[in-house]
Amino acid sequence: MTSALPYANGSIHIGHLVEYIQTDIWVRFQKMRGHRCHYVCADDTHGTPIMLRAEQEGITPEALIERVHGEHFRDFSDFQIEFDNYHSTHSDENRELSQDIYRRLDRAGLITRRTIEQLYDPEKEMFLSDRFIKGGCPKCKAGEQYGDSCEVCGATYAPTDLIKPYSVLSGATPVTRESEHHFFKLGECEDFLKEWLDPAGKAAPLQLEAANKMNEWFAAGLRDWDISRDAPYFGFEIPDASGKFLYVWLDAPVGYMASFKNLCEKEGLEFDSYWQPDSDAELYHFIGKDILYFHALFWPATLKYAGYRTPTKICVHGFLTVDGQKMSKSRGTFIMARTYLDHLNPEYLRYYFAAKLSERIEDIDLNLEDFTARVNSNLVGKYINIASRSAGFISKRFDGQLATALDADGAKMVAGIQAQAEQIAARFEARQFSEAMREIMALADQANEYVSDKAPWVMAKEAGQEQPLHQVCTAIINAFRVLTIYLKPVLPKLAAEVEAFLNIKPLQWCDVSELLTDHTINNYKHLMKRIEQKQIDAMLEASAATLQQAKPSPARHGEAQQKKTAKVKKETMTSDSDHTIQFDDFAKIDLRIAKIVKADHVEGADKLLQLTLDIGEEKPRNVFAGIKSAYSPEQLEGKLTVMVANLAPRKMRFGLSEGMVLAAGPGGKSLWILEPHEGAQPGMKVK
Ligand code: 2FM
Ligand code: ZN
Repeated sequence: MTSALPYANGSIHIGHLVEYIQTDIWVRFQKMRGHRCHYVCADDTHGTPIMLRAEQEGITPEALIERVHGEHFRDFSDFQIEFDNYHSTHSDENRELSQDIYRRLDRAGLITRRTIEQLYDPEKEMFLSDRFIKGGCPKCKAGEQYGDSCEVCGATYAPTDLIKPYSVLSGATPVTRESEHHFFKLGECEDFLKEWLDPAGKAAPLQLEAANKMNEWFAAGLRDWDISRDAPYFGFEIPDASGKFLYVWLDAPVGYMASFKNLCEKEGLEFDSYWQPDSDAELYHFIGKDILYFHALFWPATLKYAGYRTPTKICVHGFLTVDGQKMSKSRGTFIMARTYLDHLNPEYLRYYFAAKLSERIEDIDLNLEDFTARVNSNLVGKYINIASRSAGFISKRFDGQLATALDADGAKMVAGIQAQAEQIAARFEARQFSEAMREIMALADQANEYVSDKAPWVMAKEAGQEQPLHQVCTAIINAFRVLTIYLKPVLPKLAAEVEAFLNIKPLQWCDVSELLTDHTINNYKHLMKRIEQKQIDAMLEASAATLQQAKPSPARHGEAQQKKTAKVKKETMTSDSDHTIQFDDFAKIDLRIAKIVKADHVEGADKLLQLTLDIGEEKPRNVFAGIKSAYSPEQLEGKLTVMVANLAPRKMRFGLSEGMVLAAGPGGKSLWILEPHEGAQPGMKVK
């Protein structure tokens, strides 16, 4: 099993986590069912953005990818994503496999070499892919458009068609240069791919929705795939072609194999028996819908013609939205894994994603209100509650000892829950996690009904009820144990705590049918707290604050690959000190002298002050500024400062923010707002 390899130039965010959590749940389920599984992943380390990012940070790409590898691994581990191996595409295994695959494809006659013309940055001395070129749209004339398509009118074109194109790396005017490129003849693989992908065929590796998408691609025709890049490039050299490198998308999926190979070396597994064409092992890839083309066309074709087996299934999921919209930095909903972890229990998110995920490709929404409500009412209110309603009696009244038998009603109730084991397993197997969660919670309802009917707290006060109370509480504990098995793929840490509480070995799926009687359990400690609104608020606020400094990874939040990378570039370029702008660009910013007529604390916000700013308009502006760490409201009132007056208003949790004040410094206490020399008046334009 694999999840897509995250790029090594950014942090993991909750959009990524949909996939890792989905895969991890499935892998854990399979392992609990007694299957032998290897869940492998790695960082995707090659390509131009990573090379440039390292350059920008003044470090080597190797140093960058090593640092990010550590960060990614910690984030995943803290979300209980348990890889059997987390490797890197910048590894010896991957170099050997990728270069060997290239040679095998070449020997199979599937590589062709052609000279192409491409734009070249004469200052930076490198070829520019479309996303590193900007200029005016040849159709609508909008300025500042990328080399492949116009974000204003939607036109697509060649970068050479742009009006006054320039390199976003140096600002230089690109020139056209020739270079020999290596292409993989995808068109020649069409018959194989059509048969392999056929939803009615033997392999049928895709969900139907994805298979339908393939037909559109087949209809458009499979073009040769350009798999080479010229130096300078951070990647693997193409064998016997000096100065030519393998395009990152060639070696990235090979990274799945390489990570597995590395695992084989560590654990003494036989690599070939998993990868030879007639292997009876199964191979599952979990991916987002944006990289279907790479996984359903290039990757199987590469494998097939290099003489390897093909994937068993490619499980495709949709994107994540937060509160119904694309994750947004200004609303604080572009939440990095670490920011989430700083405020909330990772198992809340695992449960919530499970409650939303299906086998389909549709997007899922993290609605923060619903998130709180579901976790609190289902996970804590229904499931955890079962244990907390009976455990105290077992320890206080019966010295931690469970009864030797259940009462008739209790036995029936527990048997009812046990009877659903195969149904729930089938849901997990089919990746219908939301259905599984719904069914499990319905069973928790049944257990709670039994608790309410029997009312052990009443029995405990009545004389002569010792034995019935003991049996009732034992039945409740048994119901809780079975539900824990069902939830264990989703909540592994909690399940481990339950196992410690129940004083039992790690639960497997086949343990469902057993009963826990005549057995000593440990004292109950509260297993999970409810979510409080203030935790969510603090996370959103921290998220908005960190994103002003950080540059999150582009992957997995709803845009096509090319565009995503372009976005990152846009962000990184604004902080690139040798990148100049034209006066017109500067003139777009309406900077004004503002008088701070009022400054207030914002209830529930750790970092913000609310400023009322007079810029000579009829109505003063309301601005939320992240300067609380450095100023008290009293220090600011009556002072003049500079604000950006034409920044699009931003809806925040506390109200509308209608601009931005300017400040210098790294943050925290070291933050200084700008103040003009005496004489400047509110509303004056700064130019
Ligand atoms: O889209 C992405 O985030 C890529 N880094 C995924 C690569 S998956 C595999 F092919 F390596
Ligand atoms: Zn246009």
